[in-house]
Amino acid sequence: MILVVGANGMLGRDMMALLGERGRGVDIDDIDITSLESTERVLTAVRPSVVVNCAAYTDVDGCESNQETAMQVNGEGVAHLAMATRMIGARLVQVSTDYVFDGGKGAPYLENDAPNPLNVYGESKLAGEMNAAVNPDHLIVRTQWLYGLHGKNFVETMLRLGAERDELSVVDDQIGSPTWTVDLAHAILALIEKGCRGVYHAANGGYCSWNEFARAIFQEAGMGVKVTAMTTEQLNRPARRPLYSTLDCGKLLRDCGYGPQPWRDALRSYLRLRK
Ligand SMILES: NC(=O)c1ccc[n+]([C@@H]2O[C@H](COP(=O)([O-])OP(=O)(O)OC[C@H]3O[C@@H](n4cnc5c(N)ncnc54)[C@H](OP(=O)(O)O)[C@@H]3O)[C@@H](O)[C@H]2O)c1
Repeated sequence: MILVVGANGMLGRDMMALLGERGRGVDIDDIDITSLESTERVLTAVRPSVVVNCAAYTDVDGCESNQETAMQVNGEGVAHLAMATRMIGARLVQVSTDYVFDGGKGAPYLENDAPNPLNVYGESKLAGEMNAAVNPDHLIVRTQWLYGLHGKNFVETMLRLGAERDELSVVDDQIGSPTWTVDLAHAILALIEKGCRGVYHAANGGYCSWNEFARAIFQEAGMGVKVTAMTTEQLNRPARRPLYSTLDCGKLLRDCGYGPQPWRDALRSYLRLRK
């Protein structure tokens, strides 16, 4: 049985839906991963063979002013899961992020490229990756720019703002791969089923800027919203972001035969589903 921790989150909900009867889910009401005692109690009671950790403190700008919470949840929380899974002989699957990279490579990142996070969220997620290794039977899946039916995300923000305004300004100097949580859930399951270990990258195919993504959202949704360009510097968010952090997902395809669909096809599927 596969236990999903953070089962009420955006990825967690789609992971649970994909697993069906093979899955069990827990979230903050059942387990607090910042407590080793709570983590061990739940895992020894449930005794899963695999734990997929979708729980995290995911407010990237919030992490800048709540560094301690970020490290407790995204760093120490993973150490607790690694200790508890090792104790019961289960595999740990840890979901991580492109924000462990600084975006300066100028080409898609490979799994063994050197991390260099620019913000507290990225630092805390990198600590989580390192802590996952406390259990030798671990799998780390880095992903990026997630959207899904069950959480706050860029697609929903654009659709909401686009319904209120005729024109929006969106940053055009950050490049990445928008990724649908359903496709990521399929990638994670494919990796589990193939028994893959170590680090993998999983994101929808191709890449774009947030500005191009916003235009695509309005085109696919049939909304006539004008999208103008602005820079990351102009937006001036608390957390620094990598400018080019696309992930090379070749290893995922080679090792388990699954290649997530191109991002624009995934966006179409998502918009069809949410109608
Ligand atoms: N969203 C993205 O764009 C993105 C990009 C790259 C990687 N990721 C990674 O993908 C994974 C899933 O992200 P997501 O956007 O689906 O996350 P999410 O929607 O924020 O869900 C995270 C879940 O974890 C729960 N949680 C928080 N602290 C906890 C704790 N101490 N113990 C147990 N549960 C706790 C949250 O509960 P509350 O809601 O009550 O706090 C929430 O249900 C995360 O590892 C994230 O870092 C996300």
